[in-house]
Formats: sequence, C-alpha cells, structure tokens
Amino acid sequence: MSSVLTDLFPQPIVQAPMAGGVSVPQLAAAVSDAGGLGFLAAGYKTADGMYQEIKQLRGLTSRPFGVNLFLPQPETADPAAVDVYAHQLAGEASWYETELGDPDSGRDDGYDAKLAVLLDNPVPVVSFHFGVPAREVIDSLHRVGTLTFVTATTAEEARAVERAGADVVIAQGVEAGGHQGTHRDRPETDGSGIGLLSLVAQVRESVGIPVVAAGGIMRGGQIAAVCAAGASAAQLGTAFVAAHESGAHALHKQALTNPLYARTELTRAFTGRPARALVNRFLREHGPYAPAAYPEVHHLTAPLRKAAAQAGDAQGLALWAGQGHRMARELPAGQLVEVLVAELAAARTALSAGGAR
Ligand SMILES: Cc1cc2nc3c(=O)[nH]c(=O)nc-3n(C[C@H](O)[C@H](O)[C@H](O)COP(=O)(O)O)c2cc1C
Repeated sequence: MSSVLTDLFPQPIVQAPMAGGVSVPQLAAAVSDAGGLGFLAAGYKTADGMYQEIKQLRGLTSRPFGVNLFLPQPETADPAAVDVYAHQLAGEASWYETELGDPDSGRDDGYDAKLAVLLDNPVPVVSFHFGVPAREVIDSLHRVGTLTFVTATTAEEARAVERAGADVVIAQGVEAGGHQGTHRDRPETDGSGIGLLSLVAQVRESVGIPVVAAGGIMRGGQIAAVCAAGASAAQLGTAFVAAHESGAHALHKQALTNPLYARTELTRAFTGRPARALVNRFLREHGPYAPAAYPEVHHLTAPLRKAAAQAGDAQGLALWAGQGHRMARELPAGQLVEVLVAELAAARTALSAGGAR
C-alpha cells in the first residue's frame, strides 16, 4: 500500500461512504478500529447533521476516518421531463398513501456550509463524489491537514482528479453499488461503464497518485487482484451494507442474498442519476423512462421510498447493491475486516506460489 495510506490505516480496506443512513458512526468506528478506513457519508446530511455524526464517531474511535461529500450538480434537468415523470409516479404516491416530494427542494445540500465545518473541525480524509472539487477547496483542506480522495470512472476523469491536486483517486468500476461517481451525467454514455480490473489498470497508467479500487469487491482474493493490477487499497460498499453495525434497512440487508433479487441494474428510477440497485418492482416499472434529472428525481421519490420502508415493502425501496451482492456476509464489521484480511493474505500466498486457488 502507498505510504500516504498505510500511515492512516494499516489494512488496504476502505469502507465506502454510503449516504441514506447506511454508513453510520458505529460502522465507521468498527472498520477503523479493525485497521481499515471507516467513512461517514454527508451527501444528504445538513452541515450540522454531519458535524454531529463526526462528533459521535470521534467518541467511538481514536483511529483515522473519512467524510464524503457530493459535488453540487449543474442545473441541466429538463423541467418538462421531470413533470412527465411526476405524472408517471402519481400511481405510486396513491399506492403508498403519500405525496410526491418537491423536485426543486435543494440542489447542493449545503456543500459550502459542510466544507466550512470541515475546515473548522478538520478530519483525516475528505472524499468527493460526482465531480472534482475546485483546486482552492483541495488546497484549503490540505492546509488543515486533511487528505483528499476523489472518485473517477474513467482514465480521463482520473487525470482531472490528479490535476486538481487530490491525494488519491478512487477508481469506481461499473460493478459498483449505489451511484456511479461520473463527473458529468451524460445519458449518451450510458452503457459504456468500465469494468473494475480494466479501469484500475488504465487509471494506474494515467496518474501518479495512489489508486483505491471500488466496485463488486466482496472477498479478500479480489482485493489481492485489484492490488496486483495497481491499486493501493480497495473500497467496499455492498459488503459492509450487510454488516451488523450498518444502518441499512433490514429489508435491504436481507434482499442482498435473497434469490428473489437475482440481478442488479444501473438505473435513474430513484434519483435521476445512474446508480446500481437490485432489480425490484419500482426499478423494473420506472427505470426505462426515468429522466436524467439529479437531484430533482431524488427529491421527487424520497417520500415514496420512505413510505415503502415504513410499509416494509422492499419492492419500493432503492436497494443499492453492487454486482457481488450475493456474496454478502452478515458479520460484525470488525470481524468482516479480519476475514477479508485473512483471505487477502491467503490469496497473496497463492499468487506468490505461482498458483491460484
Ligand atoms: C448503499 C450504498 C450507498 C452509497 N453511497 C455513496 C455515497 O454516499 N458516496 C460515495 O462516494 N459513494 C457511495 N456509494 C458507492 C461506493 O462508494 C462504492 O463505489 C461502491 O459501494 C463500490 O461497489 P460495491 O458496493 O460493489 O462494493 C454507495 C454504495 C452503496 C452500496
């Protein structure tokens, strides 16, 4: 692992930030205590909500951790397309006996306010999704001693991350659960997502900064594989959704290994930006015509998802999951890190002995 990372966390395992209440402080603390890097997800939090979670996490662990932010998105949505989608979702609202959300209820979720909190109360790592922060933002975080990680889904995006001065690029393959961190949502590139092993090799040859690999990783052997391809560490989301400490809805955890959910798909149905989820009724019915409109669609469907959760209906939830979901293990997060580390060691031994298991 690159020394900039080993100084922070000894095991090459990053617990992905997972917005929507999944990566709670208890999860991040358990991962950091086990030698990985735990993360909080502030994408959908207010600045104060983020601050409270950081305080709580600091009370649970003295180990380093990260906080993740979403870059504010440019206003590109076609209001007429959002209106049409709202009409198409009207039946869902009456089925769940709720109202649709206001699509215009906020574009940036307080990005500047959150940055101000992170500059006043520095944390070891800040990561960014959905774009590259301005060079001044990265410089100001460096001045307070914070390392910066930024997601990229292509070699070009990785070069932009390095040019902006970030310390680490997270190479996110198309297998990944949750939102693709594409810098600009361009529907014309739908279907051209790059598989992780190929992406890691491309990014490794394009930039000089350390690479963290994300997407479909569920076993230590896969961590060995991405590290052999040039990554310094792996970022796992879905594997930690199933962990005991994760804040994911019980239905979400159960669905990962339920044979009823055999496939995942990238969809705009829930938020308007491509994100990988288990295929359920909502995704099947609305995915095909959901518009490219983030965060408008996220706000529009929020009450539906909340009502589905309250009704215990997994068919109406956003069941974010990567392609490896069936290999999820319901373990305490610290134990999951230990198992992954043991598998990684075994795979490395097998690799150096010249054979595969
Ligand atoms: C439930 C869930 C929520 C996620 N939320 C975020 C997020 O808030 N910020 C972020 O940078 N990535 C988020 N991701 C993507 C992860 O950072 C990572 O790329 C992905 O989990 C890797 O693929 P895997 O799930 O197959 O391990 C999320 C992933 C999942 C599964």
